[in-house]
Amino acid sequence: MSSLTESAVREALEAVIDPVFEKPLGELGTLLALTVEQGKVSCKVALASPSETLRDKVRERIDAALEPLSPGHVAVDWEVRVPTRETVSDDPIPTVKNVILVMSGKGGVGKSTVATNLALALRRLGSRVGLLDADLYGPSIPTMMGIQGHPASKDGKTIEPMQRFGLKLMSVGFLLEDPKQAVIWRGPMLHGALQQFVRDVAWGELDYLVVDLPPGTGDVALTLAQKMRITGVVVVTTPQEVALADVYKGVSMCKRLSIPILGVVENMSWFEDPSGQRHELFGSGGGEKVAEMAEAPLLGQIPIDPEVRKQGDEGLPIVQAAPSSPAGDVLHQIAEKLTDLIAKLHFERSGGDKAPKAENAKRLRIVR
Ligand SMILES: Nc1ncnc2c1ncn2[C@@H]1O[C@H](COP(=O)(O)OP(=O)(O)OP(=O)(O)O)[C@@H](O)[C@H]1O
Ligand SMILES: [Mg+2]
Repeated sequence: MSSLTESAVREALEAVIDPVFEKPLGELGTLLALTVEQGKVSCKVALASPSETLRDKVRERIDAALEPLSPGHVAVDWEVRVPTRETVSDDPIPTVKNVILVMSGKGGVGKSTVATNLALALRRLGSRVGLLDADLYGPSIPTMMGIQGHPASKDGKTIEPMQRFGLKLMSVGFLLEDPKQAVIWRGPMLHGALQQFVRDVAWGELDYLVVDLPPGTGDVALTLAQKMRITGVVVVTTPQEVALADVYKGVSMCKRLSIPILGVVENMSWFEDPSGQRHELFGSGGGEKVAEMAEAPLLGQIPIDPEVRKQGDEGLPIVQAAPSSPAGDVLHQIAEKLTDLIAKLHFERSGGDKAPKAENAKRLRIVR
Protein backbone atom coordinates (compact mmCIF):
# COMPACT_ATOMS: atom_id res chain seq x y z
CA MET A 1 0.00 0.00 0.00
CA SER A 2 2.74 2.36 1.00
CA SER A 3 4.40 1.89 -2.40
CA LEU A 4 1.62 3.91 -4.06
CA THR A 5 3.33 7.24 -3.73
CA GLU A 6 3.13 9.87 -6.39
CA SER A 7 6.83 9.60 -7.12
CA ALA A 8 6.66 5.83 -7.58
CA VAL A 9 3.68 6.17 -9.89
CA ARG A 10 5.35 8.95 -11.84
CA GLU A 11 8.50 6.93 -12.28
CA ALA A 12 6.52 3.94 -13.56
CA LEU A 13 4.43 6.03 -15.95
CA GLU A 14 7.33 8.01 -17.32
CA ALA A 15 9.00 4.76 -18.29
CA VAL A 16 6.02 3.61 -20.41
CA ILE A 17 7.07 3.41 -24.06
CA ASP A 18 4.91 5.26 -26.59
CA PRO A 19 4.19 2.71 -29.34
CA VAL A 20 4.39 5.25 -32.19
CA PHE A 21 7.49 7.16 -31.16
CA GLU A 22 9.12 4.20 -29.40
CA LYS A 23 10.32 6.45 -26.61
CA PRO A 24 9.33 6.74 -22.93
CA LEU A 25 6.52 9.15 -22.05
CA GLY A 26 8.88 10.88 -19.63
CA GLU A 27 11.28 11.74 -22.40
CA LEU A 28 8.54 12.76 -24.80
CA GLY A 29 6.89 14.97 -22.21
CA THR A 30 3.53 13.38 -22.93
CA LEU A 31 2.58 12.61 -19.34
CA LEU A 32 0.65 15.84 -18.90
CA ALA A 33 -0.78 15.49 -15.41
CA LEU A 34 -0.78 13.11 -12.48
CA THR A 35 -2.53 12.88 -9.14
CA VAL A 36 -2.48 10.06 -6.61
CA GLU A 37 -5.13 10.26 -3.92
CA GLN A 38 -6.32 7.56 -1.56
CA GLY A 39 -5.14 4.72 -3.75
CA LYS A 40 -6.59 6.29 -6.88
CA VAL A 41 -4.40 7.31 -9.78
CA SER A 42 -5.55 9.94 -12.31
CA CYS A 43 -3.34 10.93 -15.16
CA LYS A 44 -3.49 12.71 -18.46
CA VAL A 45 -1.51 11.51 -21.45
CA ALA A 46 -1.01 13.15 -24.85
CA LEU A 47 -1.33 11.04 -27.99
CA ALA A 48 -0.11 12.20 -31.39
CA SER A 49 -2.85 10.40 -33.26
CA PRO A 50 -6.56 9.77 -32.75
CA SER A 51 -6.10 6.02 -33.32
CA GLU A 52 -8.19 3.94 -30.91
CA THR A 53 -5.78 1.04 -31.26
CA LEU A 54 -2.94 3.30 -30.15
CA ARG A 55 -4.98 4.49 -27.17
CA ASP A 56 -5.77 0.90 -26.14
CA LYS A 57 -2.13 -0.06 -26.46
CA VAL A 58 -0.94 2.82 -24.29
CA ARG A 59 -3.67 2.03 -21.76
CA GLU A 60 -2.47 -1.58 -21.60
CA ARG A 61 1.10 -0.45 -21.08
CA ILE A 62 0.05 1.96 -18.33
CA ASP A 63 -1.87 -0.77 -16.52
CA ALA A 64 1.06 -3.18 -16.83
CA ALA A 65 3.51 -0.56 -15.55
CA LEU A 66 1.37 0.24 -12.52
CA GLU A 67 0.38 -3.31 -11.68
CA PRO A 68 3.28 -3.92 -9.25
CA LEU A 69 2.12 -0.86 -7.29
CA SER A 70 -1.45 -2.26 -7.06
CA PRO A 71 -3.38 0.95 -7.49
CA GLY A 72 -7.08 0.68 -6.71
CA HIS A 73 -8.19 2.56 -9.72
CA VAL A 74 -6.44 4.20 -12.66
CA ALA A 75 -8.24 6.91 -14.63
CA VAL A 76 -6.56 8.05 -17.82
CA ASP A 77 -7.59 11.20 -19.58
CA TRP A 78 -6.37 11.55 -23.16
CA GLU A 79 -5.40 14.55 -25.18
CA VAL A 80 -4.97 14.02 -28.91
CA ARG A 81 -2.48 16.43 -30.43
CA VAL A 82 -2.39 15.87 -34.16
CA PRO A 83 0.92 17.28 -35.39
CA THR A 84 0.95 19.75 -38.21
CA ARG A 85 2.83 20.06 -41.49
CA GLU A 86 5.16 22.96 -42.03
CA THR A 87 3.44 25.85 -43.71
CA VAL A 88 5.20 28.23 -46.04
CA SER A 89 4.48 31.96 -45.72
CA ASP A 90 1.95 32.03 -48.58
CA ASP A 91 0.43 28.68 -47.74
CA PRO A 92 -3.18 28.81 -48.98
CA ILE A 93 -4.55 26.79 -46.05
CA PRO A 94 -2.39 27.34 -42.98
CA THR A 95 -5.18 26.16 -40.66
CA VAL A 96 -5.16 22.71 -42.23
CA LYS A 97 -2.71 20.54 -40.32
CA ASN A 98 -2.31 17.73 -42.80
CA VAL A 99 -2.98 17.31 -46.51
CA ILE A 100 -3.26 13.71 -47.73
CA LEU A 101 -3.40 12.97 -51.45
CA VAL A 102 -5.10 9.78 -52.63
CA MET A 103 -3.69 8.74 -55.98
CA SER A 104 -3.07 5.85 -58.34
CA GLY A 105 -1.48 5.34 -61.70
CA LYS A 106 -4.65 3.90 -63.16
CA GLY A 107 -8.30 4.87 -63.34
CA GLY A 108 -11.13 2.97 -61.73
CA VAL A 109 -9.12 1.28 -58.99
CA GLY A 110 -11.13 2.85 -56.17
CA LYS A 111 -9.38 6.15 -55.36
CA SER A 112 -12.63 7.99 -54.75
CA THR A 113 -14.03 5.09 -52.74
CA VAL A 114 -10.91 4.99 -50.58
CA ALA A 115 -10.69 8.78 -50.22
CA THR A 116 -14.34 9.07 -49.18
CA ASN A 117 -14.28 6.22 -46.70
CA LEU A 118 -10.90 7.18 -45.33
CA ALA A 119 -12.14 10.72 -44.68
CA LEU A 120 -15.19 9.32 -42.90
CA ALA A 121 -13.12 6.88 -40.86
CA LEU A 122 -10.82 9.72 -39.76
CA ARG A 123 -13.88 11.72 -38.80
CA ARG A 124 -15.22 8.81 -36.79
CA LEU A 125 -11.95 8.80 -34.83
CA GLY A 126 -12.91 12.27 -33.67
CA SER A 127 -10.77 14.35 -36.04
CA ARG A 128 -11.77 17.41 -37.99
CA VAL A 129 -11.72 16.36 -41.62
CA GLY A 130 -12.24 17.84 -45.07
CA LEU A 131 -12.58 16.03 -48.38
CA LEU A 132 -11.56 17.79 -51.57
CA ASP A 133 -12.61 16.30 -54.86
CA ALA A 134 -9.72 17.34 -57.09
CA ASP A 135 -11.12 15.38 -60.02
CA LEU A 136 -12.24 18.40 -61.98
CA TYR A 137 -13.27 16.41 -65.04
CA GLY A 138 -15.19 13.60 -63.43
CA PRO A 139 -16.17 14.57 -59.89
CA SER A 140 -17.61 11.66 -57.94
CA ILE A 141 -17.73 12.93 -54.36
CA PRO A 142 -21.24 14.47 -54.60
CA THR A 143 -22.71 11.12 -55.71
CA MET A 144 -20.65 9.05 -53.30
CA MET A 145 -21.55 11.28 -50.37
CA GLY A 146 -25.15 11.65 -51.45
CA ILE A 147 -25.12 15.42 -51.50
CA GLN A 148 -26.10 17.98 -54.08
CA GLY A 149 -26.58 21.70 -54.12
CA HIS A 150 -24.45 24.77 -54.38
CA PRO A 151 -22.13 26.05 -51.70
CA ALA A 152 -22.90 29.43 -50.20
CA SER A 153 -20.64 32.39 -49.71
CA LYS A 154 -21.04 34.47 -46.58
CA ASP A 155 -18.82 37.34 -47.65
CA GLY A 156 -18.83 37.08 -51.43
CA LYS A 157 -15.14 36.12 -51.35
CA THR A 158 -14.81 32.76 -49.72
CA ILE A 159 -16.87 29.66 -50.45
CA GLU A 160 -18.40 27.72 -47.57
CA PRO A 161 -17.69 24.02 -47.94
CA MET A 162 -20.69 21.69 -48.08
CA GLN A 163 -21.15 19.41 -45.06
CA ARG A 164 -22.14 15.78 -44.77
CA PHE A 165 -21.63 13.20 -42.01
CA GLY A 166 -19.49 15.77 -40.20
CA LEU A 167 -17.10 16.22 -43.15
CA LYS A 168 -16.40 19.46 -44.97
CA LEU A 169 -16.65 18.86 -48.71
CA MET A 170 -15.78 20.63 -51.90
CA SER A 171 -16.20 19.41 -55.45
CA VAL A 172 -16.58 20.98 -58.84
CA GLY A 173 -19.80 18.95 -58.96
CA PHE A 174 -21.33 21.46 -56.53
CA LEU A 175 -20.71 24.30 -58.96
CA LEU A 176 -22.37 22.75 -62.01
CA GLU A 177 -25.99 23.32 -62.91
CA ASP A 178 -26.28 19.71 -63.99
CA PRO A 179 -23.98 17.45 -61.97
CA LYS A 180 -23.82 14.93 -64.82
CA GLN A 181 -22.67 17.55 -67.31
CA ALA A 182 -19.23 17.07 -68.83
CA VAL A 183 -16.65 19.55 -67.69
CA ILE A 184 -14.28 21.05 -70.17
CA TRP A 185 -11.32 22.97 -68.87
CA ARG A 186 -8.40 24.53 -70.55
CA GLY A 187 -5.06 24.27 -68.76
CA PRO A 188 -4.93 27.66 -67.03
CA MET A 189 -8.57 27.39 -65.96
CA LEU A 190 -7.88 24.05 -64.39
CA HIS A 191 -5.07 25.48 -62.30
CA GLY A 192 -7.21 28.47 -61.38
CA ALA A 193 -10.11 26.29 -60.31
CA LEU A 194 -7.89 24.09 -58.22
CA GLN A 195 -6.35 27.07 -56.54
CA GLN A 196 -9.81 28.40 -55.76
CA PHE A 197 -10.82 25.11 -54.22
CA VAL A 198 -7.94 25.28 -51.86
CA ARG A 199 -7.47 28.98 -51.13
CA ASP A 200 -10.99 30.34 -51.48
CA VAL A 201 -12.84 27.62 -49.57
CA ALA A 202 -13.38 28.36 -45.89
CA TRP A 203 -11.95 25.05 -44.70
CA GLY A 204 -11.28 26.40 -41.20
CA GLU A 205 -9.33 24.33 -38.71
CA LEU A 206 -8.82 20.78 -39.96
CA ASP A 207 -6.67 17.93 -38.73
CA TYR A 208 -6.74 16.20 -42.11
CA LEU A 209 -7.73 17.30 -45.59
CA VAL A 210 -8.11 14.26 -47.84
CA VAL A 211 -7.72 15.02 -51.54
CA ASP A 212 -9.22 12.68 -54.13
CA LEU A 213 -7.02 12.98 -57.21
CA PRO A 214 -8.10 12.30 -60.79
CA PRO A 215 -6.70 9.23 -62.56
CA GLY A 216 -3.16 9.49 -63.83
CA THR A 217 -0.14 10.89 -62.19
CA GLY A 218 0.64 14.40 -63.14
CA ASP A 219 -0.87 17.76 -63.11
CA VAL A 220 -3.06 18.13 -60.09
CA ALA A 221 -0.62 16.68 -57.58
CA LEU A 222 2.11 18.84 -59.06
CA THR A 223 0.04 22.01 -58.86
CA LEU A 224 -0.91 21.30 -55.24
CA ALA A 225 2.65 20.45 -54.26
CA GLN A 226 3.87 23.75 -55.69
CA LYS A 227 1.42 25.68 -53.53
CA MET A 228 1.90 23.99 -50.20
CA ARG A 229 3.60 21.32 -48.21
CA ILE A 230 1.77 18.03 -48.72
CA THR A 231 1.87 15.70 -45.71
CA GLY A 232 1.92 12.61 -47.91
CA VAL A 233 0.34 10.38 -50.46
CA VAL A 234 -1.73 7.22 -50.22
CA VAL A 235 -1.39 5.05 -53.31
CA VAL A 236 -4.37 2.90 -54.27
CA THR A 237 -3.87 -0.17 -56.42
CA THR A 238 -5.58 -3.42 -57.38
CA PRO A 239 -4.09 -6.88 -56.82
CA GLN A 240 -3.45 -7.87 -60.41
CA GLU A 241 -0.11 -7.73 -62.14
CA VAL A 242 -0.44 -3.99 -62.30
CA ALA A 243 0.90 -1.82 -65.00
CA LEU A 244 3.87 -1.13 -62.80
CA ALA A 245 5.16 1.47 -65.22
CA ASP A 246 2.20 3.76 -64.39
CA VAL A 247 2.62 3.35 -60.67
CA TYR A 248 6.32 3.84 -61.05
CA LYS A 249 5.78 7.22 -62.67
CA GLY A 250 3.61 8.34 -59.79
CA VAL A 251 6.03 7.10 -57.18
CA SER A 252 9.03 8.74 -58.79
CA MET A 253 7.13 12.00 -59.21
CA CYS A 254 6.40 12.02 -55.48
CA LYS A 255 10.02 11.34 -54.69
CA ARG A 256 11.15 14.13 -56.97
CA LEU A 257 8.74 16.55 -55.29
CA SER A 258 9.78 15.27 -51.84
CA ILE A 259 6.23 14.18 -51.05
CA PRO A 260 6.39 11.19 -48.72
CA ILE A 261 4.42 8.12 -49.71
CA LEU A 262 2.60 7.22 -46.52
CA GLY A 263 1.36 3.84 -47.63
CA VAL A 264 -0.34 1.67 -50.19
CA VAL A 265 -3.94 0.43 -50.15
CA GLU A 266 -4.84 -2.63 -52.18
CA ASN A 267 -8.48 -2.53 -53.26
CA MET A 268 -10.71 -5.31 -54.62
CA SER A 269 -8.35 -7.87 -53.10
CA TRP A 270 -10.76 -10.79 -52.96
CA PHE A 271 -14.39 -11.73 -52.88
CA GLU A 272 -15.62 -13.82 -49.98
CA ASP A 273 -18.54 -16.08 -50.87
CA PRO A 274 -21.27 -16.90 -48.36
CA SER A 275 -19.43 -20.08 -47.31
CA GLY A 276 -16.48 -17.92 -46.28
CA GLN A 277 -14.21 -18.96 -49.11
CA ARG A 278 -12.07 -16.25 -50.65
CA HIS A 279 -11.79 -15.82 -54.40
CA GLU A 280 -8.98 -13.70 -55.71
CA LEU A 281 -10.82 -12.47 -58.76
CA PHE A 282 -8.14 -10.02 -59.80
CA GLY A 283 -5.10 -12.08 -58.89
CA SER A 284 -2.85 -11.22 -55.98
CA GLY A 285 0.36 -9.53 -54.98
CA GLY A 286 -0.16 -6.10 -56.59
CA GLY A 287 -0.35 -4.26 -53.29
CA GLU A 288 2.84 -5.87 -51.96
CA LYS A 289 4.69 -5.09 -55.14
CA VAL A 290 3.67 -1.46 -55.25
CA ALA A 291 4.48 -1.08 -51.54
CA GLU A 292 7.93 -2.48 -52.16
CA MET A 293 8.50 -0.13 -55.03
CA ALA A 294 7.26 2.85 -53.06
CA GLU A 295 9.26 1.80 -49.98
CA ALA A 296 6.08 2.28 -47.99
CA PRO A 297 3.90 -0.05 -45.93
CA LEU A 298 0.90 -1.90 -47.33
CA LEU A 299 -1.78 -0.33 -45.13
CA GLY A 300 -4.54 -2.80 -45.87
CA GLN A 301 -6.44 -4.91 -48.37
CA ILE A 302 -10.08 -4.09 -49.05
CA PRO A 303 -12.29 -6.95 -50.21
CA ILE A 304 -14.71 -6.69 -53.10
CA ASP A 305 -18.09 -6.07 -51.59
CA PRO A 306 -21.14 -5.33 -53.72
CA GLU A 307 -22.33 -3.12 -50.84
CA VAL A 308 -19.32 -0.86 -51.38
CA ARG A 309 -20.40 -0.18 -54.93
CA LYS A 310 -24.07 0.04 -54.13
CA GLN A 311 -23.53 2.47 -51.32
CA GLY A 312 -21.01 4.39 -53.38
CA ASP A 313 -23.70 4.89 -55.97
CA GLU A 314 -26.41 5.66 -53.45
CA GLY A 315 -24.47 8.15 -51.43
CA LEU A 316 -23.94 6.15 -48.26
CA PRO A 317 -20.29 5.07 -47.97
CA ILE A 318 -19.62 1.70 -46.35
CA VAL A 319 -17.75 3.17 -43.37
CA GLN A 320 -20.90 5.10 -42.52
CA ALA A 321 -23.46 2.45 -43.49
CA ALA A 322 -21.75 -0.67 -42.17
CA PRO A 323 -18.61 0.25 -40.18
CA SER A 324 -18.15 -3.27 -38.86
CA SER A 325 -18.48 -5.03 -42.23
CA PRO A 326 -15.18 -6.52 -43.44
CA ALA A 327 -14.59 -3.64 -45.88
CA GLY A 328 -15.66 -1.03 -43.31
CA ASP A 329 -13.38 -2.53 -40.70
CA VAL A 330 -10.33 -2.59 -42.99
CA LEU A 331 -10.91 1.04 -43.92
CA HIS A 332 -11.11 1.95 -40.24
CA GLN A 333 -7.81 0.16 -39.59
CA ILE A 334 -6.20 1.88 -42.57
CA ALA A 335 -7.27 5.27 -41.18
CA GLU A 336 -5.79 4.42 -37.78
CA LYS A 337 -2.49 3.27 -39.25
CA LEU A 338 -2.33 6.37 -41.38
CA THR A 339 -2.74 8.70 -38.41
CA ASP A 340 0.07 6.89 -36.57
CA LEU A 341 2.32 7.09 -39.63
CA ILE A 342 1.65 10.80 -40.04
CA ALA A 343 2.53 11.42 -36.39
CA LYS A 344 5.72 9.42 -36.77
CA LEU A 345 6.66 11.22 -39.97
CA HIS A 346 6.38 14.64 -38.33
CA PHE A 347 8.35 13.37 -35.35
CA GLU A 348 11.16 12.07 -37.50
CA ARG A 349 11.20 15.23 -39.55
CA SER A 350 11.62 17.33 -36.46
CA GLY A 351 14.68 15.27 -35.64
CA GLY A 352 12.83 13.20 -33.04
CA ASP A 353 14.51 9.86 -33.25
CA LYS A 354 16.49 10.10 -36.44
CA ALA A 355 19.25 12.44 -37.38
CA PRO A 356 17.62 15.08 -39.64
CA LYS A 357 20.47 14.70 -42.06
CA ALA A 358 19.65 11.10 -42.86
CA GLU A 359 16.00 11.98 -43.22
CA ASN A 360 16.74 14.78 -45.67
CA ALA A 361 18.96 12.53 -47.68
CA LYS A 362 16.17 10.02 -47.95
CA ARG A 363 13.56 12.53 -48.93
CA LEU A 364 15.64 14.12 -51.59
CA ARG A 365 16.74 10.95 -53.29
CA ILE A 366 15.55 10.94 -56.85
CA VAL A 367 14.49 7.69 -58.44
CA ARG A 368 14.44 7.41 -62.17
N1 LIG B 1 -13.94 -2.80 -52.75
C1 LIG B 1 -14.90 -2.59 -53.66
N2 LIG B 1 -15.93 -3.48 -53.82
C2 LIG B 1 -16.89 -3.26 -54.74
N3 LIG B 1 -16.93 -2.21 -55.55
C3 LIG B 1 -15.94 -1.29 -55.45
C4 LIG B 1 -14.89 -1.42 -54.50
N4 LIG B 1 -14.06 -0.35 -54.63
C5 LIG B 1 -14.56 0.42 -55.60
N5 LIG B 1 -15.70 -0.13 -56.10
C6 LIG B 1 -16.53 0.41 -57.19
O1 LIG B 1 -15.70 0.50 -58.35
C7 LIG B 1 -16.00 1.67 -59.08
C8 LIG B 1 -14.74 2.53 -59.24
O2 LIG B 1 -14.38 3.05 -57.99
P1 LIG B 1 -13.92 4.57 -57.80
O3 LIG B 1 -14.83 5.49 -58.50
O4 LIG B 1 -13.69 4.77 -56.35
O5 LIG B 1 -12.52 4.50 -58.58
P2 LIG B 1 -11.54 5.70 -58.98
O6 LIG B 1 -10.17 5.15 -58.93
O7 LIG B 1 -11.83 6.90 -58.17
O8 LIG B 1 -11.99 5.96 -60.47
P3 LIG B 1 -11.54 7.21 -61.42
O9 LIG B 1 -10.18 6.87 -61.86
O10 LIG B 1 -12.56 7.18 -62.49
O11 LIG B 1 -11.59 8.43 -60.57
C9 LIG B 1 -17.13 2.36 -58.35
O12 LIG B 1 -18.35 1.98 -58.88
C10 LIG B 1 -17.00 1.83 -56.93
O13 LIG B 1 -18.23 1.84 -56.21
MG1 LIG C 1 -12.28 8.86 -58.77
